[in-house]
Amino acid sequence: MSARIIDGKAIAAELRAKVAAEVTRLSTQHGVTPGLAVVLAGNNPASESYVGSKAKATKEAGMTSFDHRLPDSVSQAELMALVNKLNADPAVHGILVQLPLPQQIDAQQVLDAVDPTKDVDGFHPVNAGRLASGLPALVPCTPLGCVLLAKTVHPSLAGLDAVVIGRSNIVGKPLALLLLQKDATVTICHSKSRDLEKIAASADILVAAVGKAKLITGRMVKPGACVIDVGVNRLTDGSLAGDVDFAAASEIAGWITPVPGGVGPMTIAMLLENRVRAASAVK
Ligand code: GUN
Repeated sequence: MSARIIDGKAIAAELRAKVAAEVTRLSTQHGVTPGLAVVLAGNNPASESYVGSKAKATKEAGMTSFDHRLPDSVSQAELMALVNKLNADPAVHGILVQLPLPQQIDAQQVLDAVDPTKDVDGFHPVNAGRLASGLPALVPCTPLGCVLLAKTVHPSLAGLDAVVIGRSNIVGKPLALLLLQKDATVTICHSKSRDLEKIAASADILVAAVGKAKLITGRMVKPGACVIDVGVNRLTDGSLAGDVDFAAASEIAGWITPVPGGVGPMTIAMLLENRVRAASAVK
């Protein structure tokens, strides 16, 4: 069997068109143009590339992008002062502090300082707690994108066995909570899990979010499963690979996301949607 490809690029483009229409409505009916402030400290090449894509998508959706570039040597006090200034700025509806931050910075203190109503990454403990409690919250973009992709395959996730590999605050944990909200039966695996292969092979929906190229082999995929690959790993030959061995897994899975062109475009589309939600709340 050969798995069908879940085309994240096409699904993200549809979502972005809907967001652009909502931006037009907000600006014509309420005079509000959603604005995103992106804070990038240092010159990590991967971060530069993410931030560039986010700024481009922001402008294409008719929103305003405020870019703040800070040197690698930035101090905690300077970064905190910038976040406080953005919190107070009415033209800024969303604030995104690109991670990782330079090593001298206490990243948690910076994330904690972002106004939770402008926290379009959903990284603030208030939003994390609200998500865990089932309350309305700004939710991290990558997990939102993963759920949307899974729902294109299974419009109802109720009762399905979902296995999430990875327990980060950015992807694994919030994704597990979102899947639980959709009534899936959720298992989270991590580096200390015993018999990862057996647990993974029980999944109707298998999500890999570890950051290790080709960790997920064909033997870890249940026949017909929906496989969502969050990993973006640069190989020594310069090419990109996900956490899933795509060639092997696509022989067994029912549906699979490619890397690139799967989860990545969804993350940016969901960021735009989070921003519109943050801006709608103040209109
Ligand atoms: N670094 C890697 N992924 C992300 C993300 O989703 N948001 C932010 N702010 N930084 C990141």
